[in-house]
Amino acid sequence: MKALILVGGFGTRLRPLTLTVPKPLIDLGNKPMILHQIEALKSIRVTEVILAINYQPEAMARFLKDYESKLGMKITCSQETEPLGTAGPLALAKDKLIDESGSPFFVLNSNVICEFPLEKMIKFHKAHGGEASIMVTKVDEPSKYGVVVMEETTGKVERFVEKPKTFVGNKINAGIYLLNPSVLDRIELRPTSIEREVFPKIAADRKLYAMVLIGFWMDIGEPRDYITGMGLYLDALRNKGSSKLSSGSHIRGNVLIDESVVIERGCVFGPDVAIGPECIVEEGVTLSRCTVMRGARINKHACISNCIIGWNNKVGQGACIEDMIILDDDVYGYDKIACNGRVPPS
Ligand code: GTP
Repeated sequence: MKALILVGGFGTRLRPLTLTVPKPLIDLGNKPMILHQIEALKSIRVTEVILAINYQPEAMARFLKDYESKLGMKITCSQETEPLGTAGPLALAKDKLIDESGSPFFVLNSNVICEFPLEKMIKFHKAHGGEASIMVTKVDEPSKYGVVVMEETTGKVERFVEKPKTFVGNKINAGIYLLNPSVLDRIELRPTSIEREVFPKIAADRKLYAMVLIGFWMDIGEPRDYITGMGLYLDALRNKGSSKLSSGSHIRGNVLIDESVVIERGCVFGPDVAIGPECIVEEGVTLSRCTVMRGARINKHACISNCIIGWNNKVGQGACIEDMIILDDDVYGYDKIACNGRVPPS
C-alpha cells in the first residue's frame, strides 16, 4: 500500500519559522510534524510514501535522505514546478501511486496531528465499497470551516457547505483520505483543490464516505492551533502511559524534555511544554504552553508562556514573553520583554 503526503504549502501562517524550514519539518513534540505521519503509515505497513513537494525542495530532499534509511521505508518525492494545490499533486504523482494490485492509497495533509486511526479507515473503506473515504472531525464552531454533510448511519457524504451561516452539521474535513485509484481519473494536471473541486463530484455520484475521527485532532498550521495541538498530543502521550514525559517537583502537567537539555536549578515547566535537543535553560526560568526548539538558550528568570521559540534563539535574562509569539531571531539583550504578541523594537 502507498501514501502521498501533501507537503507543498508555503506555511505562511507559521512565518517566520517557515521562511527557513518547510512547515512539515517543524517539530511538534520534539519530532518533525511529518514524522508523526510517516511513522503512523509505517505502523500499518504502508511500503512507500510519496512527498508532494513544491516549496523548499532541497530541505525536503535532505530529510528524505536521512529518514529513508532510518525508517527502513521507501520515501520518494514528486516535485511540482508550480503549486498544484491539494489535488493537482495527485495527478502529477499518478504513475507512482498506482500499483499492480490496484490497492487504494492514503493522502494526508502534512499539518494535521491526531492519533491517525488508519487501520480503522482501511476497514471502513472496505466495508462501504465506495470510491473514496475522508476522515472528518467534530468541531464546536463549524461556521469557519467547510462542513461535510453526511448520512449519520452510513457516513455517505451528501454535500459540502463552505463556512455555513446556519447550522448544517459540525463535522469538517480532517485532511486524511483513502482513495481508490479511479479517483485519479477525475483529477487534471493543473492547480486544483481536492476539497472544492474533486470531493463534491464524487459525493454527487454517491461514492464518497466520511469516517468520524475519535480522539483528538488539530490543524497545526497556525501558531495558536500549533500550541493547542501540541498540548493535545502530549495529553495523548499521557493517556498512553508514555515514559517520554518528564516528572519531578519542577514539572506541572505534561512536559517533554529532550535528554540533552541542560536545566539549571529553580525552573518550573508546564503545562504543555516541549524543550528540544541541545537547549540550555538557566536558573529560575518558568515555561508554560510553549515549544522551545533545538539549540535555544533561555537566560535566568525568563518567563515564557504561549510561545514558539525557534531554533537557536536566545531569550534574555528576566524576559517575560507571552501570548502566541513566534521568535525566530535573537531576543538576547532585552532585560524585560513584557509584551502581548509582539517584541518591542530595539
Ligand atoms: P498557509 O500558507 O499557512 O495557509 O499554509 P499552507 O500553504 O500549508 O496551506 P494549507 O494549510 O491550507 O495546506 C493544506 C495542506 O496542503 C498542507 O499539507 C500543505 O502542505 C498542502 N498544500 C497546499 N498547497 C499545496 C501545493 O500547491 N502543492 C502541494 N504539494 N501541497 C500543497
